[in-house]
Amino acid sequence: MARQIVLTRFGGPEVLEVTEGPDPEPPADGYVVETRAIGLNFAETVERRGAYRKDQPLPYPMGKEAAGVVVARGPKARRFEIGDEVLVVKFDNGCYADRIAAREDQLLRPPRGLDWTEKAAFANTFATAWYAMHEIARVRPGESVLIQAAAGGVGTAAVLLARSHGCEPILGTAGGEEKCRLVEGLGARRCVDYRTEDFREAVAAFTGGQGVDYCLESVGGEVYEQSLEVLAPMGRLVIIGFSSIREDYRGTLKRIHPLTVFHRSILVGGLNVDHLSYPSRLEVWERLVTHVEEHGLKPVVGPVFRLEEAAEAHAALEGRRTVGKVILLP
Ligand SMILES: NC(=O)c1ccc[n+]([C@@H]2O[C@H](COP(=O)([O-])OP(=O)(O)OC[C@H]3O[C@@H](n4cnc5c(N)ncnc54)[C@H](OP(=O)(O)O)[C@@H]3O)[C@@H](O)[C@H]2O)c1
Repeated sequence: MARQIVLTRFGGPEVLEVTEGPDPEPPADGYVVETRAIGLNFAETVERRGAYRKDQPLPYPMGKEAAGVVVARGPKARRFEIGDEVLVVKFDNGCYADRIAAREDQLLRPPRGLDWTEKAAFANTFATAWYAMHEIARVRPGESVLIQAAAGGVGTAAVLLARSHGCEPILGTAGGEEKCRLVEGLGARRCVDYRTEDFREAVAAFTGGQGVDYCLESVGGEVYEQSLEVLAPMGRLVIIGFSSIREDYRGTLKRIHPLTVFHRSILVGGLNVDHLSYPSRLEVWERLVTHVEEHGLKPVVGPVFRLEEAAEAHAALEGRRTVGKVILLP
């Protein structure tokens, strides 16, 4: 029997329960992967509450990413062999499980040199940070960078990628002193506890009053508005999320007038990695994995829970009590 978490009703973390079901079969063009570690995404806590999409149907198996070993293969599947170590990224969910059926285009090769928890922490964090910085904002070595929520899963990946790209200075924000010290340990020149300090002052101080060339924004609300304020001329801000906004994010993200963008010579972009097509994803993935291997980068793994403790894991992630990527072990 396979064990998995199926969301049957929206609600608090307590709705997450492990259920047993038949072993999955590989699709004709896919595989069955036995998971070794599962990565949690902040968006899954939003989904669990029923606030991700208005038309989200129930029930469905939860989880967007995991790392594991191929144990079965459909007749038309080509890229991977039984026994291969792979990452599974399923935006149509089903990764909070000990066995996952996945299509060929949902499997990726992990970077060399990572353990299982690091593998499970890699795909969405590093791919999101990489796409935002390289494919959208086109950040160049030597440019200044501001990473919001820099101690989180995506945030830590963004700091590591900015450092290995030669960005300077790298500035970050995080909720608490301990988180800030972790971010500085990863290579940020300064991390500001934005619950008690105004990060705009640090940006001014470290950029000679110019502002930053690039900002990765995932918090929303006031943090988003203040991030726009501190962009330098020719600065780029990429919106990847709104972790502080509990209900209707559409109404709470302040609109920016095109003339403001024009007058200030700035670019405000967005990224949603689930929309990217497979061939382009594979090409970018190879560039990312090569970079990570060459620079010996490793994702920051946060707290590790058992699958049965998924409720505790969700509560910790949405309660801002975690750093790095939260992991479940099947
Ligand atoms: N667009 C995409 O394709 C894409 C892909 C992956 C992730 N994301 C987004 O990127 C963000 C980071 O994702 P992640 O999975 O790595 O999560 P995470 O950053 O590890 O966790 C979220 C962090 O947001 C910060 N935060 C600020 N205000 C908060 C609030 N009111 N409630 C809860 N957290 C708050 C907290 O850090 P502090 O305590 O330090 O403030 C918290 O640790 C999320 O918004 C996520 O939806 C987007």
